[in-house]
Amino acid sequence: MEERILIVGGAGYIGSHTNKYLNDNNYKTVILDDLSYGHKDAVKWGDFVKGDMADDVILDKIFTEYKIIAVFHFSAFIAVGESVEKPGMYYNNNVSKTISLLNAMVRNNVDNFVFSSTCAIMGNPKYLPIDESHPRNPINPYGWSKFMVEQILKDFKKAHNLNSVVLRYFNASGADPSGTIGEKHNPETHLIPLVLDAAIGRRDSISIFGTDYDTDDGTCVRDYIHVNDLAQAHLLSLEWMLKNKECNDFNLGNGTGFSVKQLIEVVKDVTGNDVEVVESGRREGDAGTLIGASDKAHSILGWKPKFDSLETIIETAWKWHQKMDFLEK
Ligand code: UFG
Repeated sequence: MEERILIVGGAGYIGSHTNKYLNDNNYKTVILDDLSYGHKDAVKWGDFVKGDMADDVILDKIFTEYKIIAVFHFSAFIAVGESVEKPGMYYNNNVSKTISLLNAMVRNNVDNFVFSSTCAIMGNPKYLPIDESHPRNPINPYGWSKFMVEQILKDFKKAHNLNSVVLRYFNASGADPSGTIGEKHNPETHLIPLVLDAAIGRRDSISIFGTDYDTDDGTCVRDYIHVNDLAQAHLLSLEWMLKNKECNDFNLGNGTGFSVKQLIEVVKDVTGNDVEVVESGRREGDAGTLIGASDKAHSILGWKPKFDSLETIIETAWKWHQKMDFLEK
């Protein structure tokens, strides 16, 4: 039987790009997604199974019908504000259902897991850039849910010898340069697609959440990392895990921060369109500056981000965004 990677949440933003990246690199995939947030039209590679990631019957069937060598898990709820309002929903999806998935792996002797974690487990930074040793201090249920799974994975290694790599993304952004897949959340809360919406005229303006942060221009600073570079890190993590049969964790960012105002200027340059800006108050739970240190991923995985300028990242997002707009009409 041909070896496959199971991509849970492969119809979502980062999952669909990783699916393409794996297939472009001659890996075969199976996608499991309930399409509650993902998009069927983003699954253009591999076999697709519609279903819940905690459904034992579906999971056992996949693990029996395919030779799954690793599971990549992208199927989390990600809206920070919503996690504060509905913690039960977040802990159920992000923690309980992940435990069911891990139990199914153990039951079916599948040993390798790559987990999408987040810099949000560190909370407000004590120092910058944020490396893997930074103290953990999540400040919302979303961050806690990811932190809990990180701990659970350590326990599964001890008890069941389940290998895992934890990848902590900074701000995932951009789209595949082909323009065939990209970022499409509903509702959209992320800065880049919202600014592009303003540039294309789908919304009147972009609100800047807070202009009184302790940063050069008062707006929040983030480390934007291209989604295909995250996909590359997943493939390298898989290869590292297959070779070393161990656990590891990596922070994934470009190591450069851009403020909200700087990002809006880049969008104006790339699109050639004006963007109307409304300055409003802070969004609850936002840290002022988040910048990642990814030396560990560079040295151990050999990870080399290809999209290291914000212009290029925005160009790829813009290419997708114009087409996405067209598709939805
Ligand atoms: N922002 C605005 N206006 C907007 C939207 C966002 O000013 O309309 C600002 C935010 O305040 C923030 C920056 O733009 O300073 C980026 O915001 P995003 O919502 O795009 O992303 P976050 O930095 O909030 O990302 C966080 C975590 C990720 C997590 C993600 C979940 O850092 O790990 O939320 O959606 F995955």
